[in-house]
Formats: sequence, C-alpha cells, structure tokens
Amino acid sequence: MALEVKGLSVRVRDKVVLKGVSLSVRYGTVHAVMGPNGSGKSSLAYTIMGREGYEVMEGDILLDGESILGLETHERALRGIYLAMQDPPALPGVRFGTLVVAASNKRLGEAELTRVKDPSVIRSMRALASELGLAPELLQREVNVGFSGGERKRSELLQAALLKPKVVILDEPDSGLDVDGIKKVAEYIRRFREEGRAVMLITHYARLLKHVVPDEVTVLIGGEVVARGGAELAFAIEEKGYAIAKEWGMK
Ligand SMILES: Nc1ncnc2c1ncn2[C@@H]1O[C@H](COP(=O)(O)OP(=O)(O)O)[C@@H](O)[C@H]1O
Ligand SMILES: [Mg+2]
Repeated sequence: MALEVKGLSVRVRDKVVLKGVSLSVRYGTVHAVMGPNGSGKSSLAYTIMGREGYEVMEGDILLDGESILGLETHERALRGIYLAMQDPPALPGVRFGTLVVAASNKRLGEAELTRVKDPSVIRSMRALASELGLAPELLQREVNVGFSGGERKRSELLQAALLKPKVVILDEPDSGLDVDGIKKVAEYIRRFREEGRAVMLITHYARLLKHVVPDEVTVLIGGEVVARGGAELAFAIEEKGYAIAKEWGMK
C-alpha cells in the first residue's frame, strides 16, 4: 500500500477538522476523495504533507508501511509525496523555472539548488509546458504572481509530472478550468496512474471523474468518512447530491 491514513483526527486551533478518517491509496490507482465545501478535504491533504497548524490528535499516516508523522514537510516531499494545492500561493522573487530546477536537483540529492545540473530537466520542463499549453515565458515569471487560475493549475501539474512522485495528491485540480482544461488535467491523471503512481484526487464535483474513472471513492462530510465505494458512488452523487452518500454508507 502506498499511502495509508489510519483513524486520523486533526485539530486546527480549537476546531476538530478530521474525525477518525481512514483511507488507503494503492499504487497504480486513483482514489477520489469527495465532499461538500468545508468537509475537511484540503485539511486531509495538508495533514498528509505536515502543514504547520494541523495538529494530529489521533491516528497515523503511513507511506510504504512507515509512519511519516515525525517528518517535516520537505522530508515528506523528498520521500515522494507531492501535493498540488487547491490555491497554490504566489512566491514573489522566485522564478517558476528556478523552482522546478531546485526541486528536481533536491530530489537528485544535489547540494547546489539553482544551477542546472541535468540539462534534460530543462528540456522536459519546456516540453511539458508546451504540452500543457503554458507559454514558454511563464517559466521566467515569478511563481504564481499574476498567473491565471488555469495557469496555476497547469503549472502544478507540470511539477507533478516532472518530479515523478510516488504519491500525487491533487486538491481540486479542476477548479476554475474550462472544458479543454479539465480534459488536459484528466489526461495527466490517467498518465500518473498508468505510470504506477498512487493518486489521491480531491474533487468537489464528479465532472472530472467522467474523464478519469476512479478506482475508489471516499466521501467526507463534516470531517468524517460517510461513504465508500467505486466510481458509481461518484456518479450517484453527481445525479442526486451529497444526501445520497449517507444512505450509501460503507457498502
Ligand atoms: N487554518 C484554518 N483555520 C481555521 N479553520 C480552518 C483552517 N483550515 C480549515 N479550517 C476549517 O476546517 C473545515 C474544513 O476545511 P477544508 O479542509 O478546507 O474543507 P474542504 O477542502 O473540504 O472545503 C472548515 O470548516 C474550515 O473553515
Ligand atoms: Mg478544499
């Protein structure tokens, strides 16, 4: 099992945002995590990455059978977990191309981060940008400074594709995208699965799941798992809304 979340309860300041959540993501599969706004989906992603302020009260998170709770965020990233955030922050002063090179060098164990060690990284970055419909100039711009919603989402996918993580967590990668953008995101997710990565796909609507049929679906409401199933659960939600999830239960 690539990623296992076991009985996880999490607090942010005084608010309990996850209550005993368990789910696993296997290599070579897509596990969709669905739920209405405020159900704890992003909190789950942040807790897996070890974001500051998300305090684990109970439970564990395992990568390849080993707990990662004691690791810092950058250590979790180096172990092979990548999170494409719902709203990735702007990093004024840092060029996007430099960030990608630094992340790639770090994964290769290089001490010098900004010097291009492996020219194939630049070639791959340019090829991915072109495939994702990102202008070459974007690589020279500051990370997410003035990027459109679509450019933010596509540049997150570029990093996920280039860094080749074991576990890819995508937090609403479809939000703010048009139909062509959604198809492109879906194509990349299918590719991640084919490459054997474990994909956790957080989504609010089932429309993306028409293009990437998930292997498993877990529904969160109020920080708790209320239903589990296959793709048919996602399509039942699309048709009837989240009320169906509670009836569905754990069958
Ligand atoms: N940093 C935070 N400070 C205060 N409340 C938070 C914080 N992060 C999440 N929450 C609260 O936790 C709940 C779950 O939020 P979130 O995980 O973002 O849900 P989702 O991604 O499913 O929309 C919400 O009620 C939200 O307001
Ligand atoms: Mg969210």
